[in-house]
Amino acid sequence: MDYDIANPDLSAEGATRLAWADNDMPVLRAIRERFEKEQPFKGKNLAACLHVTAETGNLMRTLKAGGANVVLCASNPLSTQDDIAATLVKDHDIPVYAKKGEDRDTFFAHLKKVISYNPHLTMDDGADLVSTIHKEHPDLIPSIVGGTEETTTGVIRLRAMAKNGALKFPIVAVNDAKTKNMFDNRYGTGQSTLDGIVRATDVLLAGKVFVVAGYGWCGRGLALRARGMGAQVIVTEVDAIKALEASMDGFRVATMEEASPIGDIFCTATGNIHVIRLEHLKRMKDGAIVANTGHFDVEIDVAALKNAATSVRENVRPSVDEYMLGKNRINLLAEGRLVNLAAAEGHPASVMDMSFATQALSAAWMATQALTPQVYEVPEEIEETVATLKLSAMGITVDTLTPEQQKYLSDWESGT
Ligand code: ADE
Repeated sequence: MDYDIANPDLSAEGATRLAWADNDMPVLRAIRERFEKEQPFKGKNLAACLHVTAETGNLMRTLKAGGANVVLCASNPLSTQDDIAATLVKDHDIPVYAKKGEDRDTFFAHLKKVISYNPHLTMDDGADLVSTIHKEHPDLIPSIVGGTEETTTGVIRLRAMAKNGALKFPIVAVNDAKTKNMFDNRYGTGQSTLDGIVRATDVLLAGKVFVVAGYGWCGRGLALRARGMGAQVIVTEVDAIKALEASMDGFRVATMEEASPIGDIFCTATGNIHVIRLEHLKRMKDGAIVANTGHFDVEIDVAALKNAATSVRENVRPSVDEYMLGKNRINLLAEGRLVNLAAAEGHPASVMDMSFATQALSAAWMATQALTPQVYEVPEEIEETVATLKLSAMGITVDTLTPEQQKYLSDWESGT
């Protein structure tokens, strides 16, 4: 079997971590058992471009149990957990092409390698597979049934493709499912981003001014958790409604220009480019910590920082580079790449359980459909299944409507 990973000898360590994460993924486990019997992907090649983490490892096992010929590459050069790559190759016979810290050329070579397996289904986190197939391998498109997309940034790219008529096979926007973004984006990002910032810097959050750029689901979760750790949180936004929501959620809302000289810690979560620019970096305090938790490494203008800095001390701690800008030190985390996956382990397994259960069921649904090339919502039944299984795994039961209540809800005539 062909593969390209950092060190196959890490497989035992990876197997232990994979099993640890699996303990916290009961919904995915239930789906795996179902897939073993039903074989929804029998004979299908499934190419995945995801963060190579323990949680993704358990998703890959689930898809393979469902009959898929799975192949995996990384959706970010810094997020790969090399021990997980090793156990997937050695213990699960899954070809993996991913090495933590791989350079740009290797990253794209791995992407192309995965595409060379002639996928019938794609699974993306950031739409790199779909866009590369469309740009460089359109010949493969006729045999592709469809793909799924994990993240906000990817869905934005895919909707733009669909709008331009450029999308040539159907996609399920897993990111947009309630069972995904209300939990993974909010509570997953909230916790794992703080985890990454704290592991990288050992900063005490209590009493610090923490600036969150963007108040989508990720920014909301991050602001909530930073406040929970005692930080004074400032939110920056461009959207009037989200800014109002942040304000009424009790956060101070300001522009990045206003926030720059006040903040101790800055984190972008917008999905947009150059949200923190040189003009902001120059106004920051000595020792300011600057990080990004959005998908691509474009939210902080790192090139401008590198250009303007008089010196740089790389790896003053793992994942921290210290730039001298005028008289001030600016601490950039994880080179401006997603700090939660580069400096920590990404979202905890318990929340990835819901996202990846939604992924697995959406891919299985797609395998049975003949859909036209558009971006589709996750079917409501899948959301219901995932939420119900998760509640049950958490030992929570909910009330059911009485016949009287059902009738009342469908009766438009009763009232005052
Ligand atoms: N995205 C965020 N956290 C993740 C994780 N733990 N595994 C895979 N993808 C992720």
